[in-house]
Amino acid sequence: METLTQQHKENKNKSSQPKHTYEQLLKGNSDWVKNQTDKDPQYFEKLAAGQSPEILWIGCSDSRVPANEVTNTKPGEVFVHRNIANVCNHSDMNMLSVLDYAVNVLKVKHVIVAGHYGCGGVAAAMGNKQHGIIDNWLRHIKDVYRLHAHELDLISDNALRADRLVELNAMEQVFNLCKTTIIQNAWKERDDLEVHGWVINIRTGLVKDLNISCSNTDNLGKIFALETIAEKAATQV
Ligand code: CO
Repeated sequence: METLTQQHKENKNKSSQPKHTYEQLLKGNSDWVKNQTDKDPQYFEKLAAGQSPEILWIGCSDSRVPANEVTNTKPGEVFVHRNIANVCNHSDMNMLSVLDYAVNVLKVKHVIVAGHYGCGGVAAAMGNKQHGIIDNWLRHIKDVYRLHAHELDLISDNALRADRLVELNAMEQVFNLCKTTIIQNAWKERDDLEVHGWVINIRTGLVKDLNISCSNTDNLGKIFALETIAEKAATQV
């Protein structure tokens, strides 16, 4: 019994020990700086000069789906917003501010909503347990479920149903972005802006393109296609 208790304690200690100590993170930073400047002595000088990323990434906060690594891009190439389960809610000032800056100041050409299989947020939204304040955030995903309940309820395997909800959630968030005046006004001004939906398979690392890339309001219900301020002024003349 004593041995088992000791073993349990040891395991507990092992699992509660951080993989990276605070000091190791700082050491990691100085190692990274050294690596970068060894390869290119002007690396940080160039990085500090400014950014002109062509991609806005809206992904999940999950630590396994970092935008740069997944797309094999470098610092300076992807503007990033992440939250639990890559939700794009039209009253989220944080998301809207990032979107506005990316579209209207940085003039990004691609907005990518990147969901991922094995998403804890989506799995929690499929259940009935209370998790605290996050339940209010997960409501957005429950709404996606409600929209597609006729399809999802037919999938008896829980994991497959969760995978499908991950895909449908990413698609719905693409449509949510396309419904914003930010995206719609940009489309009236330029024809080089697309909104895409992806799902990352964390078991393989590979991205599944959901093939719902949008560059106009054609895929939206008519009620969501808004007239621009210029169009409104024209009809009043
Ligand atoms: Co997730």
